[in-house]
Amino acid sequence: MRKSLIAGNWKMHATHLDAIQMVQKLSLRLEFADHDRVDVVVCPPFTALRSTQTVIEADRLMINLGAQNCYWEESGAYTGEVSPAMLKKLSVRFVIVGHSERRQIFSESDSDVNKKVKAVVAADMTPILCVGETAEDYDAGATREKVGFQIQAGLKGLTADQVSKLVIAYEPIWAIGTGKTASADDAGAMATFVRETVIDDFGSVGDDVRVLYGGSVKPGNIAGLMAKRDIDGALVGGASLDPDTFASIVRYWV
Ligand code: PGA
Repeated sequence: MRKSLIAGNWKMHATHLDAIQMVQKLSLRLEFADHDRVDVVVCPPFTALRSTQTVIEADRLMINLGAQNCYWEESGAYTGEVSPAMLKKLSVRFVIVGHSERRQIFSESDSDVNKKVKAVVAADMTPILCVGETAEDYDAGATREKVGFQIQAGLKGLTADQVSKLVIAYEPIWAIGTGKTASADDAGAMATFVRETVIDDFGSVGDDVRVLYGGSVKPGNIAGLMAKRDIDGALVGGASLDPDTFASIVRYWV
């Protein structure tokens, strides 16, 4: 009943011209029926959103557009920021919020993340809220405490109805871009924990939330992850930059 979702986070890669080729190649490697099974999302950098949108619309591709970040205000004197309304106008449907690189490199706090989640929801787009523990949290046995706190802080003030449409990506920071992946069993157990945390706070709508795993997802480990009951998809970084590789992740059952 929860449709799978596989999102490619291109991070700070791809010019607007690269993006056109990447999205076209990706769509050529996917079959019509794949889109019935999986919502496919690409999240290019801001500068490539418009060209990607144009290709998706002109060629009627079934790929969804996502952004990697946004600010929470609608407009104003916020040099360098991009608002949810600006993204919405580009037919962006998903916005990654609180990625660990934003939290760690750009010092985003849980309260910033919460404001962004609310702003994205208010603009009628779907946040992909990222949560995950550091290597130190993991070694200290504090994974659940950290992730539980990030979920509660990130979703503060939302209604159950709003929460029901969300996507939450569990991404252990020690697994991002490192080639180390959580085992499918550990990732599955954390996805269950994420869902239970949402159910504790918002009730049964937690069963509607799509929970993704992220952190060195590749064609070789995706099937094991997707077999877990509470994992509904993946947030893919490095492996999403190559359309062939990303397409084999999307078609994980083939
Ligand atoms: P990775 O990145 O797949 O390159 O580990 C995942 C992410 O940062 O979302």
